[in-house]
Amino acid sequence: MLAAACVDRAPGVRVERAALVIPAGGSLAMLYLTVHNHTGRADTIRALRIDDAGGVSLHTPREHATGVLEPGTEARMVPLPPNSTVRFSPGGLHAMVQVTGLPMRRGSAVRLVLHRTRGDSTVSAARVVAYADLDSVLAPPSRWQRLSVLASGWWRATSGSHCAEDDPPSAAMGRELYRASGCGSCHGPVGRGDGPVAKTLAPPPRDLRDAAAFKAGASVDAIAQSIGMGIPGGGAMPAHPHLNASERQSLALYILSLRLPSQPRNLTP
Ligand code: HEC
Repeated sequence: MLAAACVDRAPGVRVERAALVIPAGGSLAMLYLTVHNHTGRADTIRALRIDDAGGVSLHTPREHATGVLEPGTEARMVPLPPNSTVRFSPGGLHAMVQVTGLPMRRGSAVRLVLHRTRGDSTVSAARVVAYADLDSVLAPPSRWQRLSVLASGWWRATSGSHCAEDDPPSAAMGRELYRASGCGSCHGPVGRGDGPVAKTLAPPPRDLRDAAAFKAGASVDAIAQSIGMGIPGGGAMPAHPHLNASERQSLALYILSLRLPSQPRNLTP
């Protein structure tokens, strides 16, 4: 099963796991998807379109973090190197869709067309989801599917893909899992508790820099447990049963690495 996912290379350009997220307020919806270029040719994503919706704009991770648009937003193209995978993900490269007038029924589907500079457009569907659905829709990030390097400079991604299944837990891995799992939609791009959906939640998502405030403990194992199972009486904090033990520990290490300097240093076991 895992090995199959690792070598799944049907030729062509494919769109997977496309999700259009019902906005927590306003009329701009986040669009997340994974694009595989299983051809030996370089290509470029020229535009994304959703039937009956307004424009789709593409944004860099930096824009996500700062909210400040950089030059070129309007006509931005995304390189799709040969045999690569490009993810539009929470906290990473992402697309925003003007959805005024588009019925946004949770669980329904909308038609998504990806225009490229080479060949035909790729037609697929995006599921309309709520922020609470995001983790299961985006699925755990497969290490072997991680972003391949984008050549053209306006956006740099780290790490090529590989198939190792048993990397030891690490904060660096946790950081990637945090992005790919959609934690930032609630906890914010860098864990400050200020994600786009935060204002709608009571109790609010935790500021992850403040480990002293964690209700269910702040050791690596306690945090890993909270991520996997949710926390008792824990409001909107979803359980993440699909993440394995090593992935949960990586997330816990990453969260502990966010601690403010003023935090006591004796929280790890
Ligand atoms: C849908 C919104 C949402 C998402 C997505 C989400 N969280 Fe949370 N999280 C919350 C809320 C709300 C709380 C605070 C709950 C409370 O105070 O009872 C929380 C609390 C926490 C806590 C503190 C636990 C404690 O003991 O108090 C940790 C750690 C945490 N989240 C990590 C994560 C990680 C890691 C992810 C992604 C894998 C994630 N969360 C995804 C909403 C979310």
